[in-house]
Order: sequence, then C-alpha cells, then structure tokens
Amino acid sequence: MSNLVSYERERTIGVITVDNPPLNALSVGVRQGLLDGLAHGLRDAGARALVIMGAGRTFSAGADIREFDRPLAPPDLNDVIGRIEASPKLVVAALHGTALGGGLEVALGCHYRCALRSTRVGFPEVTLGLVPGAGGTQRLPRLVGAELALRIIASGEPMPAERAHSLGRIDELIDGDLRGGAIALAERLVAEGRPLRRLSAIDDKLEAARRDPGIFDRFRQEIERQARGYLAPFKCIEAVRAAVTLPFAEGLRRERELFLECLASPQSRAQIHAFFAEREATKIPDVPRDTPTRPIGTAAVIGAGTMGGGIAMTFANAGIPVAVVEASEEALDRGLAVVRKNYAATVEKGRLTPAEMERRLALIRGTLAWETVADADIVVEAVFEEMAVKQEVFGRLDRLCQPTAILATNTSTLDVDRIAQATSRPGQVIGTHFFSPANVMRLLELVRGARTSTETIATAAALAGRLGKVWVLAGNCDGFIGNRMLAGYFREAAFLVEEGATPEQVDRVLYDFGFAMGPFAVSDLAGLDVGWRIRKGKAAARSTDLRYSPVADWLCERGRFGQKTGAGWYRYEPGGRTPRPDPEVAALIAESARAQGIRRREVGDEEVLTRCLYPLVNEGARLLAEGIALRPGDIDVVYLHGYGFPRYRGGPMHWADTLGLKRVSDEIARYHRVHGRLWEPAPLLRQLAEQGKGFRDFGRA
Ligand code: COA
Repeated sequence: MSNLVSYERERTIGVITVDNPPLNALSVGVRQGLLDGLAHGLRDAGARALVIMGAGRTFSAGADIREFDRPLAPPDLNDVIGRIEASPKLVVAALHGTALGGGLEVALGCHYRCALRSTRVGFPEVTLGLVPGAGGTQRLPRLVGAELALRIIASGEPMPAERAHSLGRIDELIDGDLRGGAIALAERLVAEGRPLRRLSAIDDKLEAARRDPGIFDRFRQEIERQARGYLAPFKCIEAVRAAVTLPFAEGLRRERELFLECLASPQSRAQIHAFFAEREATKIPDVPRDTPTRPIGTAAVIGAGTMGGGIAMTFANAGIPVAVVEASEEALDRGLAVVRKNYAATVEKGRLTPAEMERRLALIRGTLAWETVADADIVVEAVFEEMAVKQEVFGRLDRLCQPTAILATNTSTLDVDRIAQATSRPGQVIGTHFFSPANVMRLLELVRGARTSTETIATAAALAGRLGKVWVLAGNCDGFIGNRMLAGYFREAAFLVEEGATPEQVDRVLYDFGFAMGPFAVSDLAGLDVGWRIRKGKAAARSTDLRYSPVADWLCERGRFGQKTGAGWYRYEPGGRTPRPDPEVAALIAESARAQGIRRREVGDEEVLTRCLYPLVNEGARLLAEGIALRPGDIDVVYLHGYGFPRYRGGPMHWADTLGLKRVSDEIARYHRVHGRLWEPAPLLRQLAEQGKGFRDFGRA
C-alpha cells in the first residue's frame, strides 16, 4: 500500500483511509493508493463492506491543483471512481471537514454517504475556471436532478452537510465519532441487505429535465449577466446537459472533453493563479505564522462617515463590539442612520434576519465621548483625509488608549509614518485601508510603516481573517499598491478622450475586457468631487511641463459631480443610473484638446485598452522593485478584490505575463517615445522582458 492510503479492518468492515496532509488532495499517490486499498478490501474475506474516509482535518479538498500544470499522470481519477462504484462489496463514504471537487466525486462513486454535521460539500471547480472532471456532472444530476445539480455545479458554492442531507446527497448525518458511525452504518446496510446504489445506473431523477429541456437555456439566461466573460459556468451547463441527453459512459467522455478544454484555457490558468496568489499573499517573510498576536475583543472607529460606518459594520458582522466616535451628535446620528438603513436593505433582500440585524446593531455603540476608546484593543481612524487632522487624532488616541492598543488609520493616500510620529507607539500604528463600501468589499490593504512591529502586523492580519477580508501587505508610499497604480489608468482615460476617443468608447472597451464599469462610469458613480479636492490640494506641487487634462476639474467647476448631481462625464435622467452621452462634455473635451494643440484622431479599441492598462503594469513593476508590494501575485489580489479586475484574467501582472513582457515593454517604450516622461518604462519590466522572463519569475533565482 502507498503510505498515503491505509487499509484496516474493524469487525466486518474494511476501512480505507486517505492521509495526505494538509487536505488530502487526490494526488497521483492517493489515486493509486485508493485503487490498492479497494483491491485489498475486496481480497479481504473478512470484510463484508468498505468505508472510505480521510485522516486529519478534512475528507478531501479534491484534485491536487498543483498537478494541473503538467500532463495528468495515471491512474485517472475517473477510473478510480469507476472501480469504487463497480465494487461488488458495498462502499460507504465517510465525510468530514470539506468534501470538495474530486473529493465529492469519490463520495458520489461510493454507494452511500455519511458525514459529520460540520462537513461542507461542493464543486468549487468553476471558481478555478474548470468543470468537475471525474463524473461529478454526470452523477450529481442522477442523485438530485439536473436543475439543482446545475445550480450546485455552476455556482461552485459549498453546501453545509445538513442541507446536503435534506436534498438526499448525504444519506446519514453522524454526531461525534465519524469512523465508528460510518462502520456501524455500513454494518447496518449490509445486515438490511441494501442494494449497491450505483449512481451511473440510476436515471429516474433525470426525467424532469428530459421532459423540459428548456431548463438549460433558462439557467444560461439566469447566469448570463453575473457570469459575463467566464467560460467555465457555461461549460458546466453543457456537461450537465450531457448527463441528461447521453448515456452515462458517453456523458462521462463529454465531461472529460469539457474539463480538458477548460484546463487548457487561459481562464483556468488565471483563476488558479488567483487561488494560489490569495494564499501566498498571507505569507510575510519576516512575520512567520507563529508571530505572537494580541487578542482583539473590542474595537473603536473614529468617524461615522461612509467609511467609518462601513468599517463599524464589518466589526459587528464578525461579532466584535465596536464604538463609533464622532465629533457632533448630528454627524453621529446621520452615520448610524445610514448603518441601520444598510442593514435594513440586506434584511429586505432576505439575506439577513431581522433578529440578526438587531444583534449586529446592538454591537455598534455610537458616542461623542472620546474616552470610550480606552476600552478598545484596536482603534481604526476614518476621519477627513488631511495630515494635520489625522495627526491630531492620533496624538489624542495615544493619550487615551490602553498602552497595548493598536492604532490603525484608514488613510488611502497619506504617509503612515508621519501619522505614527504623532504617537509614542509607532510600532503599534498600521494602515488598514478598507475599500468602499467597507462592509461589502473584501479587500483590505494593510500598510506597514517603517516602525510597525511584526506583532502589530500579525495581529492586524489575524483580525482581517476574522473580518472575512482578503488582505495584502503593502509598504508605505503615496497611494500604497492599489491607488498608486490606478493614477495612470484614469490619467490615460482622460488623455484618450482628448485625443479623439469618447467616454463611451473607453468605458465600453474596459467593460468588454471584463470590468463591471469603465473609468468614466466609475468616476461618475464614486463622485468627481473627491478627486477634485485632492488635486486642488496637490496643484502647487504639480509639474507644469507634464501633460494634464483639466476636463475633470472643469466638470466639477460646473457642479457636475457625477450620478449624485445628475451629471458628470455623462448625464443622467432624474433618479436614473444609465449614463447618457452629453454634448456639453464633448464640447469641453474638444476645447481642452484645442487649448493643448492636440490633433484629434480616431483612436482604436486596442490602443484604449493598452493605454489604460499598461500604466498598471508599469507602476506595478516599480512597486515590486521598491518592495512596496512583495510579490506580483499580491498586486493581482489587490486588483481582483479591490478594483474589479476580471478574475478570469488573473490580475494585471498575470495578464501582462500572458501577453508576454517583451510585447508589453516594447509598447510602453513606444508610448514613451510618443507621449513622453509619464510613460518612462519601469527598469524591472524592461529587465525581465530582456531576459525573456515574466513577473512569475520575479524573486525566483
Ligand atoms: N490542491 C493542491 N493544494 C491545495 C488544494 C488542492 N485541491 N486545496 C488547498 N491546497 C493548499 C493551499 O494552497 C494551501 O497551501 P499552502 O499552505 O502552501 O499555502 C494549503 O493547501 C491549505 O489550504 P488553505 O486554502 O489555506 O486552507 P483552508 O483550510 O483555508 O481552506 C479549502 C480549505 C479546502 C476550503 C480550500 O483550500 C479550497 O477551497 N481548496 C480548493 C478546493 C478545490 O477547488 N478543489 C477542486 C480542485 S479541481
């Protein structure tokens, strides 16, 4: 037997146990081990039935994703599962932790399934740009019907065992001792003479879909908007359709074709990259996993504005009591009313019970008394974005807070070190840059100041996990990772329209690339006044020999702040959200072009795309060289979770790798020649390109 799978007999039941830490991924050794374990059990005359289970914390997280970048080695998981299903002895799967992907497919190949109540089962393949490839799309519809199977497979969402039990996916729930319970179940099934339930041979549950084949097109329409741009969800539909229209063996072959097609696609490579990048981002070289952390029992937020309110909700959602400190009764009331309204909207959508809303609201305590911060283990400041104001707040917090408390700033642009200087504890000061709306957006940029201690970083990271955030550690600089890169994106969008593109064209190109909205529609949604105020503050420092588009400022001077004023880069019908082109804006753009002596021309879509996105890549390369971002993957995670970069493209750095850095570098060099200093190529980008490397090689010898 392989050392990854063991066989043992208990009374009349043979127990096959997979032990491939940490998550029992079904790597080649496990697949072979399962075949050997099965053969062993079938030879064992004392075994009347078999149980398959996993050692450690989980049944199985599915196929070994790390094997996907090389040819799949035999034995094929499909064959392993086929043999399990064909076993003349009854086989029970005993699930705990997670039974995902291939893990669930193994369980569906068994004749019966039992699970601990805490188990979660599902097919996350679609989130990796794949379809289940070992019979999942053929057996699940035979167990629960095609319609439900479609939802489960195309969403990728894991399901709690209790719900799976109520749907018949799991035959028995077990409390306490899984192994003992599974053995007892197997003995009972044998004693009762129960049949070997082979899903491949059952198809009565497919009848409904055979009578109403329209379910597939209806489902496609249902997901079309949400899954726009993605291949895999639609391939999942095809695979389930094959279960309904083809005999089992042919359906299995069709599923395999679709799986291989997805596996070879750039989308699945991008989504697998994202999966690993998210995990890699949490590894900080000088902050090992065993770095001590401080317990966070209570929190305080300074400021009840949009950000402060959202951050308070984030704490309450995680069950952490939070005080919200404001300067005036009026601002506090307004802020708390918005919080209540946001929760009420979630209740209305049926995503929160009224009781849970009240429980969360009870965790948020508004106050005008700054002394309240003395109870907090962490204080997050979310006040006006101005250094003097922030320093004043931090000086005050330093005097009032317990000596161990962490003082965090939600600044998106200011220097964390200067803020820390206002305190006597710079080691306990960190940036926690939430994205708006903070209770919804999953990204949290943690910003490390020059003196931020490793303990503070580890504590903030652990807290981020509790808050359900995807976090990335950034160094301290203007704009950190996300916003610093973004500057060039908006700059070029504005230049492009001066050169002859229209806001609609630019937005369409970026929408088609996969963003939910293009730069102009986003600006109108976010409000143009915020950027205007920041630009006015920095106007004196702006270099006069660099090109600058004044159009956004002109719009603001005319009171066009975006959707909230009914006009911005577009105009909006009263109360409407649909952007409509506006001749007044076109005239302003033309005037700006004239004033700068720009000859307007037709701008191609390809140029729009590269002019907007290459600045992200170029600035990203600088962030890497400066050590502001630790890894290209960290930058990708920031863009996937904070800026709506399409996941199926993997993030800006991965996307650049797929184009080839030589091409990107050459085109940036060309833009540099045409447009000047703003396009100065990043030395790291040029260097990697010259060496024929990609960002994926960064940091690797
Ligand atoms: N294959 C290979 N490696 C895997 C894996 C898989 N199917 N699932 C997880 N891992 C690795 C992770 O990369 C991580 O490695 P690291 O410690 O070197 O960073 C380690 O196992 C632990 O995973 P992590 O995600 O940090 O653990 P968790 O307890 O937070 O989450 C799961 C557990 C199972 C929910 C999560 O890992 C997951 O969703 N895995 C993918 C499941 C999947 O998509 N299966 C279908 C494959 S086609």
